[in-house]
Amino acid sequence: MAAQIISGKALAAQIKRRAAEEAAQLKEQGINPCLAVMLVGNDPASEVYVRGKQNDCHECGIESRLVRMGESASQAEVLEQLSLLASDPSVHGVLVQLPLPAHIDEQAVIAAIPPEKDVDGFTPVNVGRLAIGQPCFLPCTPAGCIEMLKAAGAPIEGRRAVVVGRSNIVGKPAALLLLRENATVTVCHSRTKDLAKICAEADILVAAIGKAKFITGGMVKPGAAVIDVGINRGADGRLCGDVDFEAAAEKAAFITPVPGGVGLMTRAMLLCNTVQAARMAAGR
Ligand code: GUN
Repeated sequence: MAAQIISGKALAAQIKRRAAEEAAQLKEQGINPCLAVMLVGNDPASEVYVRGKQNDCHECGIESRLVRMGESASQAEVLEQLSLLASDPSVHGVLVQLPLPAHIDEQAVIAAIPPEKDVDGFTPVNVGRLAIGQPCFLPCTPAGCIEMLKAAGAPIEGRRAVVVGRSNIVGKPAALLLLRENATVTVCHSRTKDLAKICAEADILVAAIGKAKFITGGMVKPGAAVIDVGINRGADGRLCGDVDFEAAAEKAAFITPVPGGVGLMTRAMLLCNTVQAARMAAGR
């Protein structure tokens, strides 16, 4: 079976066009959508991600502000900067790039983001709202995964979904979103027994492990939809996902590529959330 490749390129471009249109409409009404990103320390991957987010904002006519702090910034200093962004009415979205330096309590910082500016959907309030089915900002990566499944026409309702990985950023919210779409959801992790067998039962397999090519062809059910959230460097130095793409594509009905898959969607969904935050702040 040759799988249909769900490219993030066209879909992310379409979502970005819509975000740009909405940003332009808000500007006509005197509202200038603005995302503030806090970057603490010198993590090279974070530098790349943050630059990408700023470029995306620029492309879509969304203002972006960068608050940069050194590796040795104290938690109190980070919280102080955050409180300035929290109370600034010209800032609609606030994002703290993770990971933070080890001496800073990540959860305390996330909890200080006002829920109505939490465009990552990481605050306890938004996570709680997602869990109980209330309107909230959806975390960008899992929301992008669902958009990809829907765009490809891969059925979700009533299907067996298996999420491999239980991070707060991807695995847990992905499971909640799939549940909201009426999938039957299993979350697997490093202590799961019979992982390969459980994966092979999945109609929808979401790989969010962080290990290059961890999901082999034998772990993919014929006809499954495989969503690869991983971004890794393979042994050959090239970017690859958590899924052995060639082997899985022979079995799956739908599969996302790396690069050019979920990563692009994550970035696009952040723009949607930022425009939504600006709209909400204006009471629209
Ligand atoms: N670090 C890795 N992914 C993310 C993300 O989606 N949001 C933030 N804030 N930090 C990250």
